[in-house]
Amino acid sequence: MAKPKTGYSCKNCGHFSSKWLGRCPACEEWNSLHEEIQYSESESSSSIVNIREEFRREEFRTDSDNASKREDWVPLHVDGEAIAPKPMARLSTGISELDRVLGGGLVPDSFTLLGGDPGIGKSTLLLQMAIGVCQKNPEIKVLYASGEESVDQIRGRSNRLVMTQSGKRSNLEGIFLSAETQLERVFGTVKEIKPQILVVDSLQTFSTGFVQSAPGSVGQVREVAARLMALAKSAGIAVWLVGHVTKEGSIAGPKTVEHMVDTVLYFEGEGGQSYRLLRTVKNRFGSTRELGVFEMEGEGLREVTNPSSLFLSERKEAVSGTAIAAPMEGSRPLLVEVQALVTPSGLAMPRRTSVGLDGTRVSLLAAILEKHMKLTLAAQDLFFNVSGGLKLSEPACDLAAAAAIWSSAKERALPLGWVFIGELGLTGEVRAVSQTEMRLLEARRLGFGTVVLPATTPKVIYEKLAANAELKVVLIARVQELSSIL
Ligand code: TYD
Ligand code: MG
Repeated sequence: MAKPKTGYSCKNCGHFSSKWLGRCPACEEWNSLHEEIQYSESESSSSIVNIREEFRREEFRTDSDNASKREDWVPLHVDGEAIAPKPMARLSTGISELDRVLGGGLVPDSFTLLGGDPGIGKSTLLLQMAIGVCQKNPEIKVLYASGEESVDQIRGRSNRLVMTQSGKRSNLEGIFLSAETQLERVFGTVKEIKPQILVVDSLQTFSTGFVQSAPGSVGQVREVAARLMALAKSAGIAVWLVGHVTKEGSIAGPKTVEHMVDTVLYFEGEGGQSYRLLRTVKNRFGSTRELGVFEMEGEGLREVTNPSSLFLSERKEAVSGTAIAAPMEGSRPLLVEVQALVTPSGLAMPRRTSVGLDGTRVSLLAAILEKHMKLTLAAQDLFFNVSGGLKLSEPACDLAAAAAIWSSAKERALPLGWVFIGELGLTGEVRAVSQTEMRLLEARRLGFGTVVLPATTPKVIYEKLAANAELKVVLIARVQELSSIL
């Protein structure tokens, strides 16, 4: 065994330095270097080679068709012909919101990181996934290794989830639990059970014997992740890592983990509210703009199949200061209520406070309204909010946001059942946006009667809906026209 090297690694970016430094030269973070014992590159990588040899695919695949001999290299073209990749077999997790976020189901040898605040429901989601997978595919085995809860705690929770999730008692002999934090022992269990899915809950509580620092330290987190990646790729096991998120919003430990994995998902929710949003930050097997919506109930997470209902109020009469926007979240259109409150300010510098929309964007919209609609907002506080805790990032929501601000400033309620779609330019023009048709279909589906669209929207997009009187379309070219169309 080569003599281990002592050095310092940055807890922010994972940079390794042999001397202690006050500031990390790589990411320029202050006070982020911590002492750590590092093994030489060759030793660490040779042990990873061992994992690759030990967990040969063919031994782990139950179906002999899929068992392909692992090769170290393959040509891209043979005899001038491209070799078609094998179709990616995806596994349904039994949770359609999760399947969609993953890009259409779980990829068999994928390596996925699920991040989120403590207590948000990560363990619950993965346990429900294990139950769902086993109900749909009785031949699949799942190993759930938890470093945070005892086997009995997980058992108690899963029994509760099974009872309510399916209504019927089902055979879940494919799920195995382990309360083990030593990675090499988990590998031993994997050899014994040969699962197709491994859940490691959580990354920060596991440690490998190849690094001597404490669980959760940069070196451990990186090594544990590297070994699990080798396992995923050589044995063809879908490995799920749970990672707690720090206050700053990054997954605790080095960024190196995020680039190692195929997919990074974040599970998040607003304080005190019961619904949870599952977002993709990175996905090698699908789009990163997908959003899954769940609600945390007494009996676990429930899928919300009609998320627009969460973001719309059930108001019966029109009030000023609110408008409906139609953002796209991934491949799915949503209808969302945006709210503005404009009140006289007693401050020399009036407040501009925004939740759910970038503050700069709100100031920009306010400036456009001041200039082109002669609103006087300079001595007014402006508060802006997107209902349901959703974050809007699309310019397609500009028109709705502007309409809400205008409505509050003028104390004129916008009629119920109107949806506003369009991007605003600084000169006050309303610009067409992408995927208008999907947004229109969602508006129709939810029973909205009128849609305000940019005048430059191609006619074919709304022609049919308008002709069938399913939606009334109001076209506007400039933001000034808001006051005349209402
Ligand atoms: P958990 O999955 O343990 O969170 P994480 O793994 O992200 O830390 O979820 C814990 C929270 O979820 C806890 O505060 C209780 C709540 N919860 C419910 O409301 N209903 C349920 O059925 C379960 C299992 C948990
Ligand atoms: Mg947990």
